Parts: sequence; structure tokens; C-alpha cells
Amino acid sequence: MVQGYDGGVRSTYRARIGQKADNQPMQGKRILLGVTGGIAAYKSAELVRRLIEHGAQVQVVMTSAAREFVTPTTFQALSGRPVRTDLWDAAAEAAMGHIELARWAELVLVAPASADFLARLAHGLADDLLSTLCLATAAPIAVAPAMNQLMWRNAATRFNVELLTARGVRMIGPGVGDQACGEHGPGRLVEPADIASQIAPLLSPAGPLAGRRILVTAGPTRECIDPVRFVSNRSSGKMGFALAQSLRDVGADVVLISGPVTLPTPLGVRRIDVESCEQMYAAVQRELPGTAIFVGTAAVADYRPLACAEQKIKKTSETLALELTRTTDILSQVSASTPRPFMVGFAAETNSVEHYARAKLLAKNLDLIAANEVGHTKAFDCDDNSLLVLWRGGRVELPVSSKRELAQALTGLIVEQYLEQNAARERDSARELASEELAAREGARAS
Ligand code: C5P
Repeated sequence: MVQGYDGGVRSTYRARIGQKADNQPMQGKRILLGVTGGIAAYKSAELVRRLIEHGAQVQVVMTSAAREFVTPTTFQALSGRPVRTDLWDAAAEAAMGHIELARWAELVLVAPASADFLARLAHGLADDLLSTLCLATAAPIAVAPAMNQLMWRNAATRFNVELLTARGVRMIGPGVGDQACGEHGPGRLVEPADIASQIAPLLSPAGPLAGRRILVTAGPTRECIDPVRFVSNRSSGKMGFALAQSLRDVGADVVLISGPVTLPTPLGVRRIDVESCEQMYAAVQRELPGTAIFVGTAAVADYRPLACAEQKIKKTSETLALELTRTTDILSQVSASTPRPFMVGFAAETNSVEHYARAKLLAKNLDLIAANEVGHTKAFDCDDNSLLVLWRGGRVELPVSSKRELAQALTGLIVEQYLEQNAARERDSARELASEELAAREGARAS
């Protein structure tokens, strides 16, 4: 628990906004607001007010440069919590260590985010409290950059922004207009009220999977032949990305492990980019602890070249034989792990779809499988699809529709089957407990 500050300012302020905070999507959500050094830091005070008006709990963390512009006292008064500034503050660390703080956050929002902070975040530095928290959190991260327009346009900043966006960090702005330095262009901090409305979708919505961690694999993999060539397939990742979004929309904490695709990261989803099957498997193993549901939508290569040539292969012969070897079957490996998550697999078949899909359901020990017919214009790399969903006790056909609609329907089935399985497990263990108690009582009576 973050220590509260119950000064008079807070009580009056909370009393004033009390009614307004009811029925808000941000109600009770824990937002860690990072403030970095820039003239726009004064606007963060207004941002704290907006977030609190929306019902959020706000913990402010300031960098040392931010304190050159605004004092922690301002933020403490508005947020009702002592502001954290230092990684080495023994008293603050004793109240709540930085790792605990990183876990506390349901969203990390950095506003304003300076060019320097974007660079440090992009390169994984952890030399002060805020950058360390960003590395140590599993929560989504949003940044609202604010800087001089030439700094924003600089190739170094562009590169850092691209890196961060690809990694799933949400960019809010910047806006274009007059700047404090007298110039005009992109680099203005987005207005606090707009920042508040843009972060709302990043906070876990309430829903039947609230608080459950789901791992989704998506997209193709690339298996290296030589430094410039690879073996891959036509998967676009659209189905997996749509599914990650709809699972997030029913409250799950979704981690999306994706092969190379050109899709934007779904809102509120943490994304990890990989290339090969082995990289995907390594990421899955790293992210698996605590996973309630595993969804394998990725079109993982079944074979990879036995070796990846160190130099580009020259065209010296008329024919070239590539020796391939089996890759790791990620889905089967996860299914064999303990504890085993609820397992959802996909099957892409060109014929006898139901027959092969049901065989795969059993062979890979899955709880649910979504099968589709693939061909030249079917399923892969297109927007519409149909699915046949099978589980041990049933089947449902989902007719042709957009991958977004299919994802929503499939999410409904996953929720239904997952909750049913959990309820059955709870019934079984209650029954077991009752019969153990009965046996113990009878034993005691007999002796
Ligand atoms: O055996 P097949 O490749 O047809 O199985 C498809 C299912 O298995 C998909 O859910 C896919 O994501 C998963 N898979 C995997 N690792 C592999 C091959 C397939 O996770 N190496």
C-alpha cells in the first residue's frame, strides 16, 4: 500500500470532487505519474487534478530536473501523497520500495517526458527512480513528450520514439503550436484534460477476466538462412492482435509476443517483439509464470534451417538444398508445463479441418482449439475469416466475419470455457475436502 498523506488540503479537495468521482472509468485506478524536467512540468499539477477528478489514485515521482521547475510540495498537496524523488531515500524505500511501487502502478504516465527521458527509457537506463520504475513495472507505460520542436524533430529523438512505440509505449502527442522558447512547431505538451481522456483506455477495464494474465503469441516467425534471407509464412498477425485486444477489453492483463508484423500494438496490451521460433519460445518461458490462459495464434515455423550461414550464400550452383530441422512446438511445451494454464490453440488446415483440429486438441492437450481452412485467399493475410471452435465437450461454428468480430466471439467462448473449468475445479476440491473431513471424523469416532 502506498502511504497516504492526510493533510487538510487533501480532505478539502477530495470532499469537493467526491461526487464527481463516482462512476468514472478511472475510479480507484492506481496511476504513477512521472514528471521530468521541462517548462511544461507546471501543467502536470493540472494533470494531477484531472486524474483525481476522474477518481484515480495518483502517486507522483519527480526527476531531479523536474524539481528545478516545480516543487514536490505542489504535487503532494494535489495528489495527497508524499512525492517520490530519489532511489536512495531510505525512509521512502522503507515505506514502499521501488519494486513495490512499480507493482502498485496500474499505469505509468510520464508527463511531461523530456527528450532526455525518452532516450533513457528507450535504452533501458535505470539510474534514477523514475527510469528504474519504468523498467521494473509490468503496467502499461504512456508518455506525453514536451520539448523544443528541433529536439522533437532530431533524428535521435525520432529513433527513440520509434523504438518506444514498437515496444508498446503509448505516445500522447506532442501537440503543435507556440512554444515557451518562442519557436513554433511540434513539441507542446498535450493539454491535461486530453491526456486524461487518452489514458483511460489503457487502464484495465472491469470484466470477467479482470486480473487474469493472458499470454498471446501472434504473427509469423522468421527462421534464418543467412544474414539476409529467412524462411517465413504469410501470417499477418491480424487474428492474434484482434484477440489480444478483445481479451484486454474483458479485463485481462495481456502480454502479446509477436513475430514480425506491421500492426499497431493493441491499446493497453504489453507487446514483446521477436523474430524466430526460438526467440518466441524464450519470451514465452520468461513471461509464463502467473499466466492463467495461453493463446497460441502465432504461425510458428515448423522447421528451420539446420544452420544459419554466417556469410551471405553465393549463387555458385544450379540447385541449392536447404536442410531443415524441427523447431520447438511452443504450444505443446506450455501445455506440458506445471502449473498448466488454460490452453487455446489454433489449427490452420487445407482439408479435413474438423478431423485434424480435433486430433490436435487431444495431441497437444488443449482446452480449446480454433480451426480454419487456409488456402490462397483464405485466412492468412486477409481481414475476414471463419472459425470452427472445438473443445472436449462441444463445437461452435463462427461464420465469416471480420477478424475483430471473430476475436470477440472467440473471447466469449474462451471466457465461458475457462470459467466453467475453474468452477468445476473448485467443486471438485470442495468435494474432496468434504470427503476428507468425513473420513477424518469417522476415523476419530472409530478410535
Ligand atoms: O501443429 P500445428 O503447427 O498445426 O499447430 C498449430 C498450433 O500450434 C497453433 O496454435 C500454433 O500457434 C502452435 N504452434 C506452436 N509452436 C510451433 C508450431 C505451432 O506454438 N512450433
